[in-house]
Amino acid sequence: MFPNRRPQMILLFAYIFNLIGFARGSPAAQEQQSLGDGQMFNDQKPLLPSNSFTNRTHALPAFVNALDVLQSSYFEVWQGNWPNGIDWTKAVIGTYLSSALLTISTSFDALSSQKDSENLVNKYFSHLIAAYFGQDAFALRQQAYDDMLWVVLGWLESVKFINEHSTNHYSSSSSPGGDWYAQDYIPAFAHRARIFWELASQGWDTSLCSGGMIWNPYLVPYKNAITNELYISASISMYLYFPGDKNTSPFGFAGPTELAGVDAPPGRSHDPKYLAAAIEAYRWLNNSNMTDAKGLYVDGYHISGWSREQPQNRSHNTRCDARNEMVYTYNQGVLLSGQRGLYEATGARSYLEDGHKLVADVISATGWDLKHNKAPPRTNTPAKWQGLGRSGVLEEACDAPGFCSQDSQTFKGIFFHHLTIFCSVLPDHLVLPDGIFVGKELADDSKLHVKLCNRYGRWIRHNAEAAMATKDAEGRFGMWWGAPSRSGENDFDSEAELPDHAVDYRNTGVPQKWKNSEKSVPRVVDEEVREQDRKVGARDLNDRGRGRTVETQSGGVAVLRALWELTDTR
Ligand SMILES: *[C@@H]1O[C@H](CO)[C@@H](O)[C@H](O)[C@H]1NC(C)=O
Ligand SMILES: *[C@@H]1O[C@H](CO)[C@@H](O)[C@H](O)[C@H]1NC(C)=O
Ligand SMILES: *[C@@H]1O[C@H](CO)[C@@H](O)[C@H](O)[C@H]1NC(C)=O
Ligand SMILES: *[C@@H]1O[C@H](CO)[C@@H](O)[C@H](O)[C@H]1NC(C)=O
Repeated sequence: MFPNRRPQMILLFAYIFNLIGFARGSPAAQEQQSLGDGQMFNDQKPLLPSNSFTNRTHALPAFVNALDVLQSSYFEVWQGNWPNGIDWTKAVIGTYLSSALLTISTSFDALSSQKDSENLVNKYFSHLIAAYFGQDAFALRQQAYDDMLWVVLGWLESVKFINEHSTNHYSSSSSPGGDWYAQDYIPAFAHRARIFWELASQGWDTSLCSGGMIWNPYLVPYKNAITNELYISASISMYLYFPGDKNTSPFGFAGPTELAGVDAPPGRSHDPKYLAAAIEAYRWLNNSNMTDAKGLYVDGYHISGWSREQPQNRSHNTRCDARNEMVYTYNQGVLLSGQRGLYEATGARSYLEDGHKLVADVISATGWDLKHNKAPPRTNTPAKWQGLGRSGVLEEACDAPGFCSQDSQTFKGIFFHHLTIFCSVLPDHLVLPDGIFVGKELADDSKLHVKLCNRYGRWIRHNAEAAMATKDAEGRFGMWWGAPSRSGENDFDSEAELPDHAVDYRNTGVPQKWKNSEKSVPRVVDEEVREQDRKVGARDLNDRGRGRTVETQSGGVAVLRALWELTDTR
């Protein structure tokens, strides 16, 4: 079950070299040119002469600006949330707020002044606290398992941030871990993460398909990529970052062990059950044949012939054999943080290898040539759909025709958020269940990881620039990053050819046959909106459909953060 690699108790210093290596030689660094006037981030002048990031220093102000628009245009302090979001998208956006705080905390040197940096941390941390109380935890408890798992990832991210900021800025000899006041919030955030992990883990089911998480307890069984990827990522993150929890609410007792007289807290840190869950779920997903010919994760599996009248029919098929070929960007993203965490917890290189393969496959499916590291050449004909984008820009199939739902408006940001976690610098030692792992093998892994991640830099920049180009006068990002700047029915190719047997339920609604009741619920079609779009011939393609929203803004924040964090020239 654990990797065959033995931890080595010898300290080598080669890995230090690799850490330095990560900070150099990124694609962005190699082709830096000066853009002339260097504004500091707090200048009121336009931040960039263009949307070009040839000088990566401009990524930080652009990121801070996108974050500022996210919070000033879409967050309501009095409600403690982003009122136009829905529970799960708000949980994702809250996660980005914690990640943004992490980035600000580690970027003080690059920001204008210590005082301004601290003010930013205080401002957004106070929003995060408001978001904790503004989160509708009661409603989320009754939702699908994936909804619950976004909550887990979000509050673990906040715990990571508080610990990081405490260590970076408040450590002293008497309190090496830091004595920052925000430590007071860790128990609350950790408690919510644990409660939601426990609720969600009830979705693991071995009666069908020999394992895997069920997506939604209220629909016919669907074992999809997202719920399983989230379970992997949330479980391994619980193992690595959950600090323990003594709070017995809402049940008032700690569980069976306490009843049996064993003095066990309700949740302990580094509990091997989280690691075991992540390893098992990964094994199941990796063997589930859920990737397509391009190496991308399709959406998921139904069980053919499953009948809601006879769910217990023993002679019935229990295999996952009816595959939904639909491909969404976020299904290629969430697994990456799981793979990264599994590597850190086990030292097994295959997790990192699987992750790099997936990233390379995604990049190729946007039309980008990773071998020569460049976008496809521009032509006079509209760019064609390549499976997950075109012209080297990540795209949802709903982007070009302009009918993305609130769900899929959140997807591309999720990809970049998890890519950022995946490609962050590996630690200098790993704490494995059977000892500390340091030395040459870790150094080699680290070196390879850095090299591969550096290769993605140019593609990330290309996508960040495409996202920047969608900003309107108020600095609000749009959904279709690759959109041509002017529209006209024939100026662009709105086709995204879907594979056979692809059901785009995220944008066109869950089909009746997936529902667990006979009652017919008519689908609300956005046809009216689309007709209106056609009539006005929307000048800005990103104003079509749902237009610019808190979700599309969060996508801009995520891709700019990836640019700043991953194409490091500091
Ligand atoms: C990048 O921009 C910053 C600030 O605008 C400037 O100080 C720096 O010299 C530039 N770096 C390069 C390599 O052009
Ligand atoms: C994997 O799924 C594809 C698409 O449903 C199918 O054609 C193929 O036979 C499956 N492969 C295996 C090994 O089950
Ligand atoms: C159980 O499933 C089998 C195979 O799908 C089917 O032939 C049979 O009619 C089912 N039995 C009942 C009682 O539904
Ligand atoms: C996942 O499966 C592939 C083969 O399909 C294999 O090469 C890889 O090592 C597996 N990953 C892990 C972590 O076991």
